[in-house]
Amino acid sequence: MTQPLLRMADLSVELPIGDTKIDIIANTNLELGRGERLGIVGESGSGKSITALAVMGLLPQKMRVRGELIFDGHDLAKMSEETFCKFRGRRMAMIFQEPMTALNPVKPIGAQIAEGRILHLGETRADAEKRARLLLDKVGLPAPRFNLDLYPHQLSGGQRQRVMIATAIACEPDLLIADEPTTALDVTVQAQILDLLNDLIDDTGMTLMLITHDLGVVSEMTNRIAVMYAGRVVETGRTDDVFARMAHPYARGLFAASPHGAGLMPRPAGAGRPRLTAIPGVVPDPFERPPYCTFADRCGFVRDDCRQSMPALDLLSTNEGIEHRAACLHPCESLVRP
Ligand SMILES: Nc1ncnc2c1ncn2[C@@H]1O[C@H](COP(=O)(O)OP(=O)(O)OP(=O)(O)O)[C@@H](O)[C@H]1O
Ligand code: SF4
Ligand SMILES: [Mg+2]
Repeated sequence: MTQPLLRMADLSVELPIGDTKIDIIANTNLELGRGERLGIVGESGSGKSITALAVMGLLPQKMRVRGELIFDGHDLAKMSEETFCKFRGRRMAMIFQEPMTALNPVKPIGAQIAEGRILHLGETRADAEKRARLLLDKVGLPAPRFNLDLYPHQLSGGQRQRVMIATAIACEPDLLIADEPTTALDVTVQAQILDLLNDLIDDTGMTLMLITHDLGVVSEMTNRIAVMYAGRVVETGRTDDVFARMAHPYARGLFAASPHGAGLMPRPAGAGRPRLTAIPGVVPDPFERPPYCTFADRCGFVRDDCRQSMPALDLLSTNEGIEHRAACLHPCESLVRP
């Protein structure tokens, strides 16, 4: 069997607080094969960005990684910062929600796109800038309107996001992480940026980790999904399989609360438009997570045994080599009749 490009095994991210430590991410297990597209979903505070930052080696200074984080055979959790610098931007790259926070406001966009190729590939500035010109064209910012000398503030939000994408893909990384890449943009620009990402990934065969609140986007753009709750993966599998079953009550609640997911829920014949149903309560703060199922206090299916131990991420089925797993003692049955 071919090795996955990325594998998290019992991955935890701990944060020291006074004399104690809390796990912001707890015992996460996840795999991502080459060329796959993983969607990570979950409410605010569930740990999506911290997971992505752990992979990029960009965690806030105080946080520490435990467990294994294997990228193409290298354990990132044990890697020195010096070696990580050779990977970041070259083998893996990240697109952030707000391009202005990631782009340097006082550096022309051409120099920012070219930088990685000079640093990682040893290209001359002239060659790297020639490539930057091609990349700008590729992300829909053609010359002469968009020249290399422009500064980020001279561009719109959507155009800046295109520049960030060009910067991220400049060294043709194996893994592209996109953390809410379109949330800060208006709806039509969102669609254009997602189309652009889709096309680029089709062209290059890059592996994608896409963090988004939009389940419609997940269903269209990914083949694998991880649903996160309170710092853990609570359901994962092929996107189709997870949408068809939604075995974890949290996944079901999350889907019922979104326009795309609610449309998949069973409804009486002749019922009108699907109703959106909010999950009661909030994600527990990392300080206040119980030692048993962290969803128990919000779960409509809770039973006594749910408050006795932490459910493991158990195997439900395997389809085309991808395991469907859920961390629930009483997983829901499939929504779709076989
Ligand atoms: N720099 C930090 N210091 C301490 N705690 C942090 C820090 N950054 C995030 N956290 C905590 O880690 C947990 C997970 O945060 P994370 O940013 O990964 O959530 P998220 O799922 O990306 O949410 P959102 O959808 O709002 O972006 C939260 O409880 C958050 O408060
Ligand atoms: S383990 Fe129990 S409380 Fe937790 S999600 Fe499953 S049914 Fe709900
Ligand atoms: Mg986030």
